[in-house]
Amino acid sequence: MSLFIRNGTVVTAEATFMADLICENGLITAIGTELTAPLDAEIIDATGKLVFPGFIDPHVHIYLPFMGTYSKDDYATGSKAALMGGTTTLIEMCCPSRSEDPLEAIRLWKSKAEGISSCDYTFHMGVTRFDDTTADALRTIVSEEGITSFKVFLAYKGAFGIEDPELYHTLSLAKELGVIVTAHCENADLVSETQKKLLAEGKTGPEWHEPSRPITVEAEGCHHLMTFAELTGAEVYVVHTSCIPAVEVITAARKRGVKAWVETVAPYLTLDHSYAELPDFEGAKYVMSPPIRAKEHGDYLWKCLADGSVDTVGTDHAPFDFLTQKQMGNPAKGANFTLIPNGLPSVEERVKLLYTEGVCQGRIDLQILVRCASTQAAKIFGLYPRKGAIEVGSDADLVIWDPTWTGEISAATHSMATDYSAFEGRAIQGRAETVTVRGQIMVRAGMWTGDTGSGTFLHRTPKVTS
Ligand code: URP
Ligand code: ZN
Ligand code: ZN
Repeated sequence: MSLFIRNGTVVTAEATFMADLICENGLITAIGTELTAPLDAEIIDATGKLVFPGFIDPHVHIYLPFMGTYSKDDYATGSKAALMGGTTTLIEMCCPSRSEDPLEAIRLWKSKAEGISSCDYTFHMGVTRFDDTTADALRTIVSEEGITSFKVFLAYKGAFGIEDPELYHTLSLAKELGVIVTAHCENADLVSETQKKLLAEGKTGPEWHEPSRPITVEAEGCHHLMTFAELTGAEVYVVHTSCIPAVEVITAARKRGVKAWVETVAPYLTLDHSYAELPDFEGAKYVMSPPIRAKEHGDYLWKCLADGSVDTVGTDHAPFDFLTQKQMGNPAKGANFTLIPNGLPSVEERVKLLYTEGVCQGRIDLQILVRCASTQAAKIFGLYPRKGAIEVGSDADLVIWDPTWTGEISAATHSMATDYSAFEGRAIQGRAETVTVRGQIMVRAGMWTGDTGSGTFLHRTPKVTS
């Protein structure tokens, strides 16, 4: 089936212009004015609407065994939620335990998505151990499994976290293979010592999560990664950057020539630490790592999107139920904040929040919205111009956005599997009215009409190394 999208305002990372679009066989085949619809085409009138390239979330967790439980969504719910919010491509973190075989792990993570995901998808390969067998496994994962980004954790000691020699070998191998290393940057020892100190002082509630991993601890993690990247020459990407000193450390390294990219995530832009202080353990809904900071850090991150010192906005979607899973860290049940599963559900809300609180409030313009929520991730992770672009030959992943729609966020209406929304009651301006993946209409009039499981794995190839 082909599509003729008439008279929309097309928005890319570079420009905004009026155009008709023709999509055939899953691709964009014509862009222009006064085009003629193919005979078999479904005609969609986009008058008064914005037409965006499908949004890309470069940081989600769908299958995540973590802190004694499993994240709540599967690919059926997670990808549907993503599409309802205008996100057409997911990049998930494959996070094996230290004892798991990397090749078996990537095949397991792929099996969770295959035939179930409605979004197109790929993975960052978590390197949670580097021993004599790891280099060969990672070479196979790059050359045969089509994965060109790794993920390391400088936090979560004893779980996903790696030691410095392992970090060094991972970055050296990535440099050799022409792949990029994404990293969670927090100094794990400082976190665990600070946690012990706070617990010894009887500070057990969710409001102590942020003080246990302060901004200095994140900045140290970033500095650490920058040093290793500088020495090895590897290209790195700092995930979920939450605060001013972390961005400053990376900006300084970029000025010295370190090849580093910066991601922030929607919760850091739209929530602040006061949410973790809500009574009756409700603060646990907002426990994630690095923690959600004081408001000044969120304000700063918006400015960084505008000036280019932050490159991308993901979600770090890591959904856990409040009434069951988050209770694992409830002091009223003899537990403490270090046992609260870290993470927030947000894959559905990212673009709505960026549009409402970014574009509508004049913090970012439409080009920056597209750049940070789609195009830049496609470029960094080897998906461009297949994804992240409205160009002849690109996949027909499109979001027809109604800028006049108003509504509010609620767990009662969201598509994610969690029993709460971190943005309950938040007023929203604009919504993804029609969403297509390779020309298939997944959302119509803001309602799910998709073919569940029609997403495909995006096989990537490494950049040519010099
Ligand atoms: O709190 C978070 N961010 N949970 C998910 C795991 C991670 O660190 O990305
Ligand atoms: Zn992380
Ligand atoms: Zn994450």
